[in-house]
Amino acid sequence: MSDPIPEQRSVLVTGGNRGIGRSIAEEFLRRGDRVAVTSRSGEGGPEGALTVAADVTDGASLDAAIAEVEAAHGPIEVLVANAGITDDQLLLRMGDESFESVLDTNLTGSFRTVKRVIKSMMRKKKGRIVLISSVVGLYGSPGQVNYAASKSGLIGIARAITRELGSRGITANVVAPGYIDTEMTQELSEDLQSSYRSAIPAGRFAAPEEVAKVVAFVASDDAAYISGAVIPVDGGLGMGH
Ligand SMILES: NC(=O)c1ccc[n+]([C@@H]2O[C@H](COP(=O)([O-])OP(=O)(O)OC[C@H]3O[C@@H](n4cnc5c(N)ncnc54)[C@H](OP(=O)(O)O)[C@@H]3O)[C@@H](O)[C@H]2O)c1
Repeated sequence: MSDPIPEQRSVLVTGGNRGIGRSIAEEFLRRGDRVAVTSRSGEGGPEGALTVAADVTDGASLDAAIAEVEAAHGPIEVLVANAGITDDQLLLRMGDESFESVLDTNLTGSFRTVKRVIKSMMRKKKGRIVLISSVVGLYGSPGQVNYAASKSGLIGIARAITRELGSRGITANVVAPGYIDTEMTQELSEDLQSSYRSAIPAGRFAAPEEVAKVVAFVASDDAAYISGAVIPVDGGLGMGH
């Protein structure tokens, strides 16, 4: 007898038009889910996904995007809060505005998105929330006080949700990538890239697909008993942290 056809879930990936988010969206599409992605322009998601416009710093744009996704695909059952930015500067030079804008996108932006999908997950007594953090949130990194603060804050969100809603079939986890080959890391100088590479036990950066497969597992039925966890995908860089 062949395996039963898996249920098609309504999946939303923020920042799914490029980089890690795009690979995550492609992985869910491969697994047969109904996938929507946000981008700020409203364009550029992978083929087969619904692309909607949203800026995670703007609650009204998220309201409109989520309404559009739910009208097309039904209530969101899997949320991957992936949209994120860096604005690296040493602490002495980092202004309030830089700190606040990175927090507003990476941390408050994830909160805003979670807040808008959680009610329907509670009603269904089923849901998967995956927050894309970073090894930097645990390990620290010079020039990234703003980014590290935003990424460690996501762990608090996942763990508080787990305690609030763990009994309702909802899991909330953090995936913490190390250095992944995307535009975000391609911007780093060659020198910096090779010094990072030498610190990574695996000796290389990862492809975005390597993160995507872990996210898809954490969002699967097989991971129903994993919640409040921080799952590293970092080639060993952050081990012990
Ligand atoms: N690359 C790495 O090595 C690495 C390592 C650890 C963690 N991460 C995390 O993984 C996530 C994805 O990173 P990436 O490397 O794929 O980055 P990326 O290639 O720079 O893509 C960033 C994504 O976030 C979206 N985004 C940024 N600001 C937004 C906002 N205000 N509202 C809505 N969307 C916004 C972008 O949308 P637009 O195209 O519309 O700008 C884009 O889709 C981030 O949270 C990042 O911190 C990355």
